[in-house]
Amino acid sequence: MQTLDSISADRMNGLFAEIESFTDPDFDGWTRTVFSPFYQEERHWMLRQFKNSGLQDVHVDPCGNIVGVLPGSNAFAEPVVIGSHTDTVERGGRFDGVVGVLGALEVAQRLRESGTLLKRPLMVIDFFGEEANPFGLTCLGSRSLVGHLTAQDLRRIGPEGQRLGDTLEAFGMDPSGILGMNKGRRMKWHAYLELHIEQSTALEDAGCEIGVVTAVAGIKRLLARYLGQYDHAGGARMRTRKDAVLAAASSALVLHDFACGNSGYAVATTTHIDSLQSAQNVVPGRAELRAEVRSTDTAWLTSVESDLAQRLSARAHDFGCDVDLEWFLDNEIVQTDPTLQQNIVGAATDLGLSWRAVPSGATHDSVHISRIAPMGMIFVPSVGGRSHCPEEMTPQSDILNGIAVLEESVRLADKGPVQRS
Ligand code: GLV
Ligand code: MN
Ligand code: MN
Repeated sequence: MQTLDSISADRMNGLFAEIESFTDPDFDGWTRTVFSPFYQEERHWMLRQFKNSGLQDVHVDPCGNIVGVLPGSNAFAEPVVIGSHTDTVERGGRFDGVVGVLGALEVAQRLRESGTLLKRPLMVIDFFGEEANPFGLTCLGSRSLVGHLTAQDLRRIGPEGQRLGDTLEAFGMDPSGILGMNKGRRMKWHAYLELHIEQSTALEDAGCEIGVVTAVAGIKRLLARYLGQYDHAGGARMRTRKDAVLAAASSALVLHDFACGNSGYAVATTTHIDSLQSAQNVVPGRAELRAEVRSTDTAWLTSVESDLAQRLSARAHDFGCDVDLEWFLDNEIVQTDPTLQQNIVGAATDLGLSWRAVPSGATHDSVHISRIAPMGMIFVPSVGGRSHCPEEMTPQSDILNGIAVLEESVRLADKGPVQRS
């Protein structure tokens, strides 16, 4: 079925065609990583789209978020807020985040054109730098907006020795403005709703059009440093080696098997194994492994560090190496608001769309925003569950369905009370 008219369909086609041109040509797919000139250019374009959609007070806030407002009848009421992000991973896709921002602009435009005056202001946000970056902190814009980016975070060092604070400054931002958010007024929003692609297969497998998100997975990241012994790659006999790269590589399997052992939702991904020297004729004496684990199972995620400590050091010892493990919490598991879930179900049902409850394995700006507002998420299917790759695909009809559900959910949130959980 077609839930929205051809005006919305044409407008979305036009915007998708334009935003797709902001990409680093050196990579396959779409690459608009935070701090890149391609992202900067797209943000200039996006500011114009916010204005073209008829939003007022369009500006970039101290955290780098692009913000615009559709006024309601009561300027002092807490706003309903919708949005997502438009940065991408390297070699990413066209839909992750973008569906939520362009969809939010379309909702604002449709409400304005239909002469609908909401009671509350409707705020639209394109959040700054949501994807993982070399500083190991996702969701920079939403994290700072709720006052959770600390002075210590600003001193985090990237792989080339640069500090996060200096990198933000070089991108035209003022880190002291971000820290100001920590001390400043605690803003409160009436509700936050984010439309996003599913990035998994539950909807496609069930033949469902809309996902009602129940919880967003928590994430812990691991930096493991292996210490073995440098040796001559020709002379050292196999039995006497202390090969740090081998210990790290074998540990990737420990992480993999550990996540496979959880019968619910738990995942582990090793993303880097680095030998800390480049010669090809040296047995590596040092290595680093970077990985992350995610789950919506609180018990599993809470005990993952102690559960893995023994297993990972035993595996390192099998190869004659020692290992030092450093864990970072990226974000806790976050439940979505029950009333907003019901609103989304009601909206989908009224529109004749099939829906099901789904967890989110990907993280989102919504996780951080849940500290200042009841939060809900609407998912639309991802073909084959593919995401963070050029093959990422969501058909236009599914995107239009998601926008229709977002619009209706905004109307419901504007009218009704949302219970603060
Ligand atoms: C963002 O897409 C994440 O889940 O890391
Ligand atoms: Mn995303
Ligand atoms: Mn992503």
